[in-house]
Amino acid sequence: MRLIIREDYDEVSNYVANYIKERVNQFAPTAERPFVLGLPTGSSPIGTYNKLVDFCKSGELSFEHVITFNMDEYVGLPKNHPQSYHTFMWSNLFAHLNIKPENVHILDGNAPDLDEECKEFEAKIARVGGIELFLGGIGPDGHIAFNEPGSSLTSRTRVKTLAYETIIANARFFDGDIGKVPKLALTVGVATVMDAREVVVTITGAHKAIALAKCIEEGVNHMWTVSAIQMHPKGLIVCDEDSTLEL
Ligand code: GLP
Repeated sequence: MRLIIREDYDEVSNYVANYIKERVNQFAPTAERPFVLGLPTGSSPIGTYNKLVDFCKSGELSFEHVITFNMDEYVGLPKNHPQSYHTFMWSNLFAHLNIKPENVHILDGNAPDLDEECKEFEAKIARVGGIELFLGGIGPDGHIAFNEPGSSLTSRTRVKTLAYETIIANARFFDGDIGKVPKLALTVGVATVMDAREVVVTITGAHKAIALAKCIEEGVNHMWTVSAIQMHPKGLIVCDEDSTLEL
């Protein structure tokens, strides 16, 4: 695992967007051999997404042969709800890129059989040969995707009850009302993320300083699920200076 420290959120976003651009371009994807990219939601990736859109507009990057898999989705929110991860991904990224809609995979939190939906998501990842690069963020409690503290490090895509801390943290997107935040989500597992050939996690802000310290200075621990990245041969954390306060 490597740790890259950049000055602030913008510099982290620039670094990560350039990193993804280089990886995709080096891979030189084609229809027969697409690049498979795992993606997160949250405020952390927005700067990176803006930069990726700029690269596409300037012709430095193309998503024509990129297949994406998103990390998670709330259970029970309509797809077109302003806070659904479908809406987030289409409005912040996909609508501005030359990605083919059939190449976008986001878990359906309204599927009639949620367990089957999760199983099928894993099967789809396997069918395209696994994920080349998984980009992630973390919650202040060190969760990756919605793998809340206590999640098995060998977990796969499944239904997860959200931790109270996560509900509080995400209430800002629901008029500050914790009652409006869904209590369940579908999420890829820790192992689903760590199976990717490369994992890149961005961490910014002083409110994530304890999580960063726990995740890289202590042992691999299912209470701080992103700590699993320590074991990944191609794990990369890109963080800002504020998040390093506890290192
Ligand atoms: C949610 C998402 C995570 C994300 C986290 C952090 O819990 N499920 O994938 O990493 O929020 O969000 P933010 O980037 O807004 O701090």
